[in-house]
Amino acid sequence: MPSYVITGASRGIGFEFVRQISEDENNTVFGIVRNPATAKELTSLKRPNVHVLKSDVTDHRGLSAAAAEVAKITGGSLDYLINNAAAVNDEFAHLTLTGFEDQDVLAQSLRGMFNVNVVGVVFTINAFLPLLQKGSVKKVITISSGVADLDLTVTTGIAASAPYSISKAGVNLAVGKYAAQFKSEGFIFLALSPGLVDTSTKPPTPEELEGYKQMITAFKQYDTTFEGAITPEQSVKMQLAVINNVTVKDTGAFISHHGDKRWL
Ligand SMILES: NC(=O)c1ccc[n+]([C@@H]2O[C@H](COP(=O)([O-])OP(=O)(O)OC[C@H]3O[C@@H](n4cnc5c(N)ncnc54)[C@H](OP(=O)(O)O)[C@@H]3O)[C@@H](O)[C@H]2O)c1
Repeated sequence: MPSYVITGASRGIGFEFVRQISEDENNTVFGIVRNPATAKELTSLKRPNVHVLKSDVTDHRGLSAAAAEVAKITGGSLDYLINNAAAVNDEFAHLTLTGFEDQDVLAQSLRGMFNVNVVGVVFTINAFLPLLQKGSVKKVITISSGVADLDLTVTTGIAASAPYSISKAGVNLAVGKYAAQFKSEGFIFLALSPGLVDTSTKPPTPEELEGYKQMITAFKQYDTTFEGAITPEQSVKMQLAVINNVTVKDTGAFISHHGDKRWL
């Protein structure tokens, strides 16, 4: 009975992980959400092997309480942790690091992204590590992003969305630190980019649309095979294939849904 914890399970890629993994009734899946009352897609799944737990990833006490709930159901172990929750974009995503009129607002955006995307992931891993150590699979997957890749950044010239990209580059090294510490215990820590995935829930603002068009043009020049965003269903299917294939020799890697450094 493999067990999975997935953060940010209310919608988007996180929800799709829960949906696909729980299709196999042998899997026990725990979806962690900030607000179960608004996680309608998840709560309406109504599968006996899906459990909904509440915590913000920046709340280490909430995460410890969630880990205790998981332990009660699994008997104290956990096989897979998927760190999917993230602050994805704030209202300043279209700005570059020199585009902020107010340096305090820039600092607020940098700290906000770091707090959820780095501190939140570290809190989550630390809360579930004792359970993972008792599990038989020991895979910890952190959903990163191709925009954290230096070559993609410099080659495409995409300078916007800096606080988000910097936070994802930061979490990649956190993954590396855990890999360095726990390789000898047979753990596989992975930073995994899901590709460009359409998880939008409302139409973009004109500013967002303009930024998006520029990004797509840059991506098409970077990778001539790129055809546009994929669906959460396609992305999660590809990510699960990568997750199933990685072994301890891959621990600490930062790779994409293709299983390599092709980010798009
Ligand atoms: N979509 C893409 O093209 C793309 C590309 C590269 C990487 N990624 C990465 O893929 C992952 C999922 O992205 P997505 O597009 O599915 O994002 P999304 O639709 O914006 O969903 C983000 C999820 O994270 C949760 N979340 C945000 N802050 C949280 C916090 N402090 N504590 C707990 N949960 C929190 C949200 O919960 P609420 O419902 O409560 O807000 C939501 O479930 C992220 O790590 C993202 O960086 C996405």
